Amino acid sequence: MATPTSSSPFLGFILFSFLVFLCSLNQLGFALEGRETLENNHLTHMHTLQVSSLLPSPTCSSSTKGSDKRASLTVAHKHGPCSTLKLDKAKAPTVDEILQQDQSRVNSIHSRLSKKLSRDDLRASKDSTIPAKSGSTIGSGNYIVTVGLGTPKKDLSLIFDTGSDLTWTQCKPCARSCYQQKEPTFDPSQSATYSNISCSSSVCSQLTSATGNTPGCSTSTCIYGIQYGDQSFSVGFFSKEKLTLTSTDVFNNFLFGCGQNNQGLFGGAAGLLGLGRDALSLVQQTASKYGRVFSYCLPSTSSSTGHLTFGKSAGTSSAIKFTPLSKSGQGTSFYGLDIVGISLGGRKLSISTSTFSNAGTIIDSGTVITRLPPAAYSALKAAFRQAMKKYPSTGALSILDTCYDLSKYTSFSIPKISFSFSGGVNVDLDAAGILYAQKTSQVCLAFAGNSDDSSVGIFGNVQQKRLDVVYDVAGARVGFGPAGCA
Ligand SMILES: *[C@@H]1O[C@H](CO)[C@@H](O)[C@H](O)[C@H]1NC(C)=O
Repeated sequence: MATPTSSSPFLGFILFSFLVFLCSLNQLGFALEGRETLENNHLTHMHTLQVSSLLPSPTCSSSTKGSDKRASLTVAHKHGPCSTLKLDKAKAPTVDEILQQDQSRVNSIHSRLSKKLSRDDLRASKDSTIPAKSGSTIGSGNYIVTVGLGTPKKDLSLIFDTGSDLTWTQCKPCARSCYQQKEPTFDPSQSATYSNISCSSSVCSQLTSATGNTPGCSTSTCIYGIQYGDQSFSVGFFSKEKLTLTSTDVFNNFLFGCGQNNQGLFGGAAGLLGLGRDALSLVQQTASKYGRVFSYCLPSTSSSTGHLTFGKSAGTSSAIKFTPLSKSGQGTSFYGLDIVGISLGGRKLSISTSTFSNAGTIIDSGTVITRLPPAAYSALKAAFRQAMKKYPSTGALSILDTCYDLSKYTSFSIPKISFSFSGGVNVDLDAAGILYAQKTSQVCLAFAGNSDDSSVGIFGNVQQKRLDVVYDVAGARVGFGPAGCA
């Protein structure tokens, strides 16, 4: 969801009408929940799983890992039983809706990073398949954390996103529009530490690269506007406020968006926590304390929790292997990686390295399904189908075209998959990072191919499950370690 798209007439209109409005005022986020239960030594290249583990449990079993002295927040799946949003089950999106919305995010990332398209092409290609609805709980398979804002502090659950920079929350008086959120809407007038940023401030101009939109100005208050891939958006005052991550980690003057006009698929969350590479992201604003290092672990199922941890101690474990951040062609927000190969069942697939290097790859916490160059996905799919021959195949699930009916089995085996990144780093995906299912009669390989060779590849959040993923932005590297959370 959270992919700021480049400036559009649509957002321009929203910004404009919001400004006009202000003037008048002034005059007056299931993935396959696989868990290894049986590891057969004779099958070191296979994961053996229970079919019953494919679906999440209805109750939350919180993990304690990662909750040590470090600055660590609990990560929960937006729509699972561990979510602070406790959404109405009936309103939770279907797998099909999640996958459609995932494709909207991917389309928007592709338009943003594509150098071949003109501005007009970008506009024309920005149609989305699901219209954004105010207060709708339709949302992609994203993860949330809870932070404190203001004095006295108010807890807010925000979607965390490594693909965008600006942090924002809906703010009273919701001058234009707020969608429904679970927690009370943040009220700056009730906080002793809130202040507006003026248009003449140099940080106001940083919004241009952080949001893709030139800031507006209303009675000398700086106005931000950010639009995401699914046409969700937030417009409001650019502000600073006290941010409380943990009881000991408090940041005065944290720059964020106080949203007065918000619409979209945020699923009851109060807003978004921007963890991208650009100037206004949380990572950059907390650099003096955390040294631009953070890590997270996304839980294997929506009925368990992971962590988001800040600071240098994140990723000091020797089990973490680092690959360099790739700098070319990934824009200013995204984190680029170089995939050099993929292995399945212990065998390296025959994919030429140039297949990956032509388009490049980013790692994204908000994209659900990993996107590969067409030739790489074909090779992976063919090898997976070969290894899964004995299981009955079934129809496609939205963008996932390699699916099996496992309803008549109690246990089954899938080949292990590992990714090789530049720097000689091999990362074995967790068993939870290979399949995606809503029911045992349709269990699918959780990868998709891009439509063309030049589109950037995306290492998505299903594949990151249970891995400790360390972003060492200062050291220009990303690390991976096994079994970081439940
Ligand atoms: C922030 O700016 C808006 C618009 O100019 C104004 O309505 C609001 O009172 C300001 N808030 C503070 C705390 O200055």
